[in-house]
Amino acid sequence: MIIKNNITLKPFNTFGIDVKATEFASINSIQELRDVLNTNPTDLLILGGGSNILLTKDVEALVLQINLKGISVISRSENSVQIEVAAGENWHELVCWCLNENFGGLENLSLIPGNVGTAPIQNIGAYGVELKDSFVSCEALNIKTKELRTFTKEECQFGYRNSIFKQELKGQYIITSVVFELSNQEHSLKTNYGAIETELQNYGIKTPTIQDISKAVISIRNSKLPDPKTIGNSGSFFKNPVVTYSKFEILQTLFPQIQHYKISTDVVKIPAGWLIDTAGFKGKTFGNFGVHAKQALVLVNYGGASGMDILNLSIQIQKAVKFIFDIDLETEVNIL
Ligand code: EPU
Repeated sequence: MIIKNNITLKPFNTFGIDVKATEFASINSIQELRDVLNTNPTDLLILGGGSNILLTKDVEALVLQINLKGISVISRSENSVQIEVAAGENWHELVCWCLNENFGGLENLSLIPGNVGTAPIQNIGAYGVELKDSFVSCEALNIKTKELRTFTKEECQFGYRNSIFKQELKGQYIITSVVFELSNQEHSLKTNYGAIETELQNYGIKTPTIQDISKAVISIRNSKLPDPKTIGNSGSFFKNPVVTYSKFEILQTLFPQIQHYKISTDVVKIPAGWLIDTAGFKGKTFGNFGVHAKQALVLVNYGGASGMDILNLSIQIQKAVKFIFDIDLETEVNIL
């Protein structure tokens, strides 16, 4: 393992922000991870796929890129399998591997950028499915003691784009592998969210397979979300805010078009994309950065923008949404 000095993080964050790290190491084994932590670095930044981070300044820390690899079936029963996946595996490549093996459960999560090890931190989700639905446990290394610990699903305390690793254990553990339970026959399909049903109808498919669902999700995502390989972005920049039903009713009288997802009788989730769109930001560009033209929830770097440019735009959006709707937008992306 080699520690490099003063290197650009541009290739390691999907926003494509060009900042430098004082130290950087790519980690290929648990032993390397322990060795590097034994050097007692003063500050650490753990990078997975760099798909949920906005870097606003040079990173005065040792940046670890977790590159642990490997996917294996660890148990099989009549209808399901458990697989163990190393943290550095690319998320979408894992989904493709599962589809190839005909293992069901992750197909709705096709094409989400990032790596397997960072997926539990924010309990990634899309099209009616969240990581927690097939998650069994994960193994994580305690940064202080360098000991490995297994976290069960309950211990991870998953919520909407949330887990214990974003809350009380923030910065204390590095996830090294994740165990998933997947179906190997009679897959339970989730087709009722968003445009999946319509997309399948367009293909003329009445009894879809998990592969068909993945194809539909990929097509929907490609039509709305920019590919980070061509346009820098971090997916949804904000979380969808949750408001009380009474507040929603007031907003509905003012904005009859307002969209919502019911969470319980008392609270609803409002799509942040709709709020930002209605506030007039969709498709706005400010030189080399802006708001994506097809999905207002996504902020984009067309090339050469700084993290501060994107951060200032996000603050401007938060102020406008607060002013117009009296709603606080919380960022989903981690800002550093
Ligand atoms: N909408 C607008 N204008 C926009 C964008 C959205 O009016 O510019 C409206 C849409 O018409 C739709 C509603 O808002 O009725 C919701 O939009 P969409 O279905 O595109 O999903 P979302 O709520 O914006 C969430 C996740 C996405 C995930 C999709 C699909 C969050 C913050 N985002 O987006 O996750 O892919 O649902 O399940 O929960 C991510 O986390 O990076 C991400 C992309």
